[in-house]
Amino acid sequence: MKVVTTRISLHRQLQPYRDQGLRIAFVPTMGALHRGHIALVTEAKSLADVVVCSIFVNPTQFNDPSDLEKYPRPIENDMAMLKKAHCDVLFHPGVDEMYVPGEQWHINLGQLDSVLEGLHRPGHFQGVTQVVKKLFDAVQPDVACFGQKDFQQYKVIEYMVRQLKLPVSLKLCPTVREPDGLAMSSRNVRLSAQGRQQALALYRSLLQTKADSAHTDLHTVRQNAIDLLKSSPGVRLEYFTVYNADTFTEADTAEHSSTLVALVAAWVDGVRLIDNMLL
Ligand code: PAJ
Repeated sequence: MKVVTTRISLHRQLQPYRDQGLRIAFVPTMGALHRGHIALVTEAKSLADVVVCSIFVNPTQFNDPSDLEKYPRPIENDMAMLKKAHCDVLFHPGVDEMYVPGEQWHINLGQLDSVLEGLHRPGHFQGVTQVVKKLFDAVQPDVACFGQKDFQQYKVIEYMVRQLKLPVSLKLCPTVREPDGLAMSSRNVRLSAQGRQQALALYRSLLQTKADSAHTDLHTVRQNAIDLLKSSPGVRLEYFTVYNADTFTEADTAEHSSTLVALVAAWVDGVRLIDNMLL
């Protein structure tokens, strides 16, 4: 695996592949890799000839400075995992390589930026779209892989690609879970043993919602999940909702024929966790 830290060396590395007509798949990450990230690399490998992964802890998407500071950065371990997964090129830039001081531009994301994660983490998706646009420009991939774990992020990137007519196709990959159902996340390492158990309430609420939605009206389904989460020890609920997965607006009770997605965010042990499930 080739490791590059500048855009120019990335370009030099990738141009010969492009000249040969080879397809490039891209997996952007912030590192602290786990099986969820590696599943994206494996998927990328099946979609293209060359796989590029990036590791960049993007400061502009952290609305909480202590979250940025505490974000794990086990780069040696990450590189070993990527090599094992047959990643071809790792792009690992520093902040100065990606940003000029005081950068201000942003993309208007409409309602996608004013609900759920957009509402609770102001500026988060502006930071995500800034960095993903810059990463797409640097890598110029044919296809880029993202996890369903961050479903709203996927919708945001899909919206940006459509609005700016970016020449990249997107692939949404299923959420990888621990054997007991907890969605894998780089933040899980910050949970205590007790918090780790309490965090399972998120998965339980989604499973219950999926089961209930087959025979119960959406209003009751939603309320049952909220009741479960509010009575779960150690869990501080931020939101639980059921959305239309296509329009990303709140689903109403008549929408049983559309694809629905239940989405949850909650704090456990001072760690903010998110999860979702298609119903
Ligand atoms: P990060 O949280 O490192 O996630 C990188 C990619 O891995 C995202 O597409 C995310 O959805 C996916 N992912 C995370 N956990 C997963 C799981 N359990 N199963 C499947 N996929 C999973 O998301 C980001 O970084 C950043 O916002 C980024 C897009 C890199 C921009 O900075």
